[in-house]
Amino acid sequence: RLGWSLWIRDTVDSTNADALRLLQGGANAPFLVLAEHQTSGRGRRGRVWVSPPAQNIYYTLALKISNGSQGLTGLSLVVGLAVLEALRRTGVEKAGLKWPNDIYVDGAKVAGILLELSGDPADICHVVIGIGINVNMTSSAGDIDQPWTSIKSQIGSLVDRSGLVNILSESLHQYLAIHAREGFGALRDEWQRNNMWQGRRCTLSAGNLQVKGVMIGINEQGALRLMTDDHKEQCFSGGELSLRVE
Ligand code: ATP
Ligand code: BTN
Repeated sequence: RLGWSLWIRDTVDSTNADALRLLQGGANAPFLVLAEHQTSGRGRRGRVWVSPPAQNIYYTLALKISNGSQGLTGLSLVVGLAVLEALRRTGVEKAGLKWPNDIYVDGAKVAGILLELSGDPADICHVVIGIGINVNMTSSAGDIDQPWTSIKSQIGSLVDRSGLVNILSESLHQYLAIHAREGFGALRDEWQRNNMWQGRRCTLSAGNLQVKGVMIGINEQGALRLMTDDHKEQCFSGGELSLRVE
């Protein structure tokens, strides 16, 4: 109904890597890759996404980018909103967003999002949107070096993963349509309403560089706005940034 082709895998290294290979082999986007198990699930900046079999959702949607870089503005934040909506429809009420695109419940990470681009840098034409959701996982198969949770831990019952995949796809389709039609600006307020750290003092790190300030929200492009101690507003964007609350 959504018009996405579907690839269902048992075990893959990473659904993002798989989708990138399919694109290189000429597969037509949009398509979805789902796996039961990832042996090299990846997070941002080369980190590992712990991906045990048969408990969670490992989901990658490959899309054509229609109007160049415009189509990417705020895209990862929009995906965060779509995942949040799917979690709420599944009964997780207290979930919130951490800039740029992690989903937390009470300080514990429940889902992560990783966007990767495909194609010649001068002429990028596809993006793969990777989403990992902890669904029925209650003890981690690997080491997760920060607080985490799962939907099951939150709602106290097993979750039907196929049902959740459908809810997630519907939600993504809906949010991507708004983003394509109206741009990120139309979703900015909704994102800010769900911002876990709105008004809190934060530290932003980029390698060894650190900036401290109060998180005042995001701009029309989805960049982070910090009010620094010298009362100047500064905006930040880019995939290599990491935000911590003080
Ligand atoms: P930031 O990028 O802002 O520093 P982060 O610490 O969450 O945020 P990411 O690269 O976004 O880092 O996510 C990868 C991290 O997520 C891993 O280093 C690990 O701490 C955590 N992690 C790995 N697997 C899972 C999982 N299944 N559930 C929750 N968290 C996980
Ligand atoms: C993060 O928080 O750093 C992002 C984690 C993204 C994990 C998902 S699981 C499906 C897709 N395949 C991957 O290898 N990573 C993403």
